[in-house]
Amino acid sequence: MKDSEIFIVGANGQLGTALRKKYPKAKHADINELDITKKESINDFDWSGIKYILNAAAFTDVDGAENQKGRIVAWKVNAEAVTNLVDVSNKKDILLVHISSDYVFDGTAKIHTEEEDYSPLSVYGASKAAGDIACSIAKKHYILRTSWVIGDGKNFVKTMLELGQKGVDPAVVDDQIGRLTFTSELVRAIDHLLTNKCEYGTYNVTNSGDSASWADITREIFKLSNLNNKVSDTTTTEYYKDKQGIAPRPLHSTLSLTKINSTGFESTDWGADLERYIKKEITK
Ligand SMILES: NC(=O)c1ccc[n+]([C@@H]2O[C@H](COP(=O)([O-])OP(=O)(O)OC[C@H]3O[C@@H](n4cnc5c(N)ncnc54)[C@H](OP(=O)(O)O)[C@@H]3O)[C@@H](O)[C@H]2O)c1
Repeated sequence: MKDSEIFIVGANGQLGTALRKKYPKAKHADINELDITKKESINDFDWSGIKYILNAAAFTDVDGAENQKGRIVAWKVNAEAVTNLVDVSNKKDILLVHISSDYVFDGTAKIHTEEEDYSPLSVYGASKAAGDIACSIAKKHYILRTSWVIGDGKNFVKTMLELGQKGVDPAVVDDQIGRLTFTSELVRAIDHLLTNKCEYGTYNVTNSGDSASWADITREIFKLSNLNNKVSDTTTTEYYKDKQGIAPRPLHSTLSLTKINSTGFESTDWGADLERYIKKEITK
């Protein structure tokens, strides 16, 4: 596999940025260069020499997807646009790598396997589930289902770190349970699947380690940053009680890693990656 055979779409997001670092000679575009919702632009694009499309593009504003405008964009980017990529993938024999979410499930099961039936609670979750179904029609595809993504960009760890540094003692939900996924882990898994030519299909990919609540993770962020701020536990219902337009969230987000690990992929503990990430953030 050569970098020049790779095309990264949604290249300026958290995952797209990490993919560009891993494959510096890969072709790449974000929405300004190639809007994946525009079927004609996809069809007219010069795909010669491309063997792999890595789709890091998405509408990821979970609450924004609940309003009238956001709902339309979420369905366009997360579902309809995937059919454009599938079409080009099948016509030009290009392998399509697509990213899915724990939000395609209602979070009733404590741990989710790749075989669980779709049961999204929110508009974002439903649009992502539709994107998975679309992607599964590509003859050559990998769907990486992930959760709680942390990379270069706006994310939970950065938000908590900033609050901590400002001296805030935050109230954080303790009833949403899952595992962080650093973009470095997603990139490693994508590279593993591609270089080892693993069987096409859906793979859960998150960091490994004990499942934890957002409140527990916040305590770990403060500990690793040598901050003494206090974290008080709250529930999802209590936290959002006075807020409008909030999407329902699954309470259990932990994804089983058995399938990807059975291909020889060794997952990294989220605590180890969190420590590395925080060291980098506080020395910036
Ligand atoms: N973030 C999480 O916690 C999380 C959890 C589970 C799964 N995921 C999935 O993981 C993947 C990567 O997430 P991420 O956190 O890296 O997302 P992100 O940071 O929001 O990046 C998404 C990128 O896609 C671009 N984009 C939006 N609409 C587009 C379009 N029509 N054409 C081309 N590009 C477009 C965005 O550009 P603009 O910023 O200009 O709109 C942005 O650069 C997504 O599939 C997401 O659903 C994320």
